[in-house]
Amino acid sequence: MNELYVICRAIQIEDGQVSGFTLMRAEPTGEPKPWRIMITRKGANVYGYENVCPHQGERLDGNNPGNFLDEDGNFIACSVHGAMFDLDSGECFIGPCKGKNLSQIQLVVDDGDVCVTGVELAED
Ligand code: FES
Repeated sequence: MNELYVICRAIQIEDGQVSGFTLMRAEPTGEPKPWRIMITRKGANVYGYENVCPHQGERLDGNNPGNFLDEDGNFIACSVHGAMFDLDSGECFIGPCKGKNLSQIQLVVDDGDVCVTGVELAED
């Protein structure tokens, strides 16, 4: 079974909001490398994506760190060229990468904790 790494409590992410995290992922060489992710919540469901825009590989909140939503707060918006993505599918529905998806990461909610799995994180 894959290891679970606790990221936060599910209730720490407001419904309809997005939180960004920087984890340290173990490279095949064993070297730790920063891995930026974001977690969205819609009701009881959480969704995780890499914080990388499929348009040009930029950090989605690169021009506005920590702010992932459009001005109405309904969608994930790339701060670089304005592509917009659904919170629960990660699909771009408007912008220069329309039809492409954010890279999804595997999450598990375990007793209220949001955990990432399917990756190897570097230990402290
Ligand atoms: S890098 Fe995100 S829309 Fe261009």
